[in-house]
Amino acid sequence: MMSDIKKPKFYSNHRYRQGQNKNQYSESNSNLKDILLNDRLNIIDIGFGTGTSTKSLYSSDKNNYICIESYMQGINNLKKFIKINEIENMSVFHGDAIEILNEEIPDGVIDEILIFFPDPWPKNKHHKRRIINLYTLNLFFKKLKKGGILHFATDHIIYAYDTKSMFEEFTGYKQLFNSNRRKRPTTNYERRGLRRKNFIFDLVVKK
Ligand SMILES: C[S@@+](CC[C@H](N)C(=O)[O-])C[C@H]1O[C@@H](n2cnc3c(N)ncnc32)[C@H](O)[C@@H]1O
Repeated sequence: MMSDIKKPKFYSNHRYRQGQNKNQYSESNSNLKDILLNDRLNIIDIGFGTGTSTKSLYSSDKNNYICIESYMQGINNLKKFIKINEIENMSVFHGDAIEILNEEIPDGVIDEILIFFPDPWPKNKHHKRRIINLYTLNLFFKKLKKGGILHFATDHIIYAYDTKSMFEEFTGYKQLFNSNRRKRPTTNYERRGLRRKNFIFDLVVKK
């Protein structure tokens, strides 16, 4: 496994570009460390958007969800869901997922990392903003338990193939698109992709 990969410049500056000085906790995650030790699966949803998939997944499995988003409306929406349903094992972080993983999440405790329909940043000059690169893959794998999985989904064909190659470079193994979407719920991003006649690509890589 690759260890000392330098943090890309974009992620070193991201928080400041967002005008944030400090990541904020929701009221529901003051006991995050205890929650991570209970016997449910620890799942991180990175860039949950409006929270459609997180809410649906939580409603069916009641696992521990750590939800990270930089979009305030999504944060408020999920916090409301947590409050109304009196959920104790869902934590919401507002800010850059890379900073939050680095600073708040212990290594080797996560069962699943979900990255569904991340922004594809289609222009070459913007590829550096993508959430998947060798540095972030190394970080995600550090946070996963042995046997934990990273599940990525997109309807953007170039991002899909670029990510597949990145996974292959990182793991040293050939990766295949997954014909099984696992429990991934349908969101507006998937519906929009299907309306445009795009394929939906799932990649699932195991630590
Ligand atoms: C295209 S949306 C997908 C939302 C959701 N996963 C879905 O499938 O409906 C991508 C989301 O990722 C969030 N995002 C992008 N980069 C992020 C980062 N570094 N940290 C946290 N959230 C991020 C954006 O704010 C946006 O809401």
